[in-house]
Amino acid sequence: MPDLHLGLAGVGRIGAMHAANLATTPGVGTLTLADADPARARAVAAALPADGAAPRVAESVEALLRSGIDGLVVATGTAAHPGLIRAGVEAGVPVLCEKPVAPDVALSLPVLEHVAARGGVVRIGHQRRHDAGYREAKRAFDAGELGWLHAVRAVTCDAAPPPVSFLATSGGLFRDCSVHDFDVLRWITGREVVEVYARGSNNGDPEIGRVGDVDTALAVCTLDDGTLAVVTASRYNGAGHDVRLELQGSLGTVVVGMDDRMAARSAETGVAFPPGPPHATFAERFSDAYRAEVAAFVDLVNGVEGDLCHPADAVAASRVADAAQESLLTGAPVAVRPLEVPVA
Ligand SMILES: NC(=O)c1ccc[n+]([C@@H]2O[C@H](COP(=O)([O-])OP(=O)(O)OC[C@H]3O[C@@H](n4cnc5c(N)ncnc54)[C@H](O)[C@@H]3O)[C@@H](O)[C@H]2O)c1
Repeated sequence: MPDLHLGLAGVGRIGAMHAANLATTPGVGTLTLADADPARARAVAAALPADGAAPRVAESVEALLRSGIDGLVVATGTAAHPGLIRAGVEAGVPVLCEKPVAPDVALSLPVLEHVAARGGVVRIGHQRRHDAGYREAKRAFDAGELGWLHAVRAVTCDAAPPPVSFLATSGGLFRDCSVHDFDVLRWITGREVVEVYARGSNNGDPEIGRVGDVDTALAVCTLDDGTLAVVTASRYNGAGHDVRLELQGSLGTVVVGMDDRMAARSAETGVAFPPGPPHATFAERFSDAYRAEVAAFVDLVNGVEGDLCHPADAVAASRVADAAQESLLTGAPVAVRPLEVPVA
């Protein structure tokens, strides 16, 4: 297979990481970067490993799309996602776009329709689908080793909150953070969330409440077969970045995230687990998953389908997050409506 020429739009916090991973992914011969701030694109290109793909910089996303790329990765801020997904589809190349498809579900639906109408090949970055632990949990459940699930518990806790300026535009804790848990909940169980009841609290920085968000939240989800799931998130887990998923089944239970660097300790006498220093950030916790995600995109560009998240699934997860946010604001359980759009 000849080496590919891939394009990457947006080289901020996550885009710079994708650039480094793409540059060292087998099968990538050339990597062209573009950013609204071209100086940032040049700086990221200059820092790429010398033994990786040949780095190039385009002065604009338009120039990037005209540069003969075989595939496009989008890691800009969320507001630019719909336009860049459409542009990639119009250019006739496969697109991997960071989550979410658009700032809200209403803005996502026309994107799904456009992708379906043009037969576009678009996937969305939900990296947990490429994490070894989540994949093993799915395998065990699919193989019947857990029996039927009576409870699912998902946890995502950051060590410390991001800047309040980011939180003011993030769409809220459920859309920004728990959306990853809603995605794996649907992906692993193969079920739809039909109802969400959410609560939140603000015992940390009062500024987070002033910009309309909560620092801690919980959502009770009912799946379409009656299975119950509890999704919790917090911006304040000083012990480290704590991401877990427990699938509790009639025959057995598996726990994702109970690794040597789990950001929690046992309260039991004589138990020294976990032995290592806790994961500090999501980037560190999921470093292998992010690498596997872009490798799966390279496979996709070469015509090999893997487990990358389809846009309709990403929007379905966002719809659960929207329902959780609505429940948080109203104090009432909220039904989650199914998507009624063509699926590419
Ligand atoms: N999957 C994950 O775990 C994960 C984690 C963090 C962020 N994200 C997603 O990644 C995206 C980027 O987040 P971030 O934290 O890296 O943001 P960031 O602000 O650090 O970086 C965004 C970059 O995009 C550039 N940009 C913005 N609009 C552009 C446009 N129209 N054309 C070209 N470049 C443009 C900015 O100049 C900036 O360099 C967000 O959509 C976010 O939801 C995903």
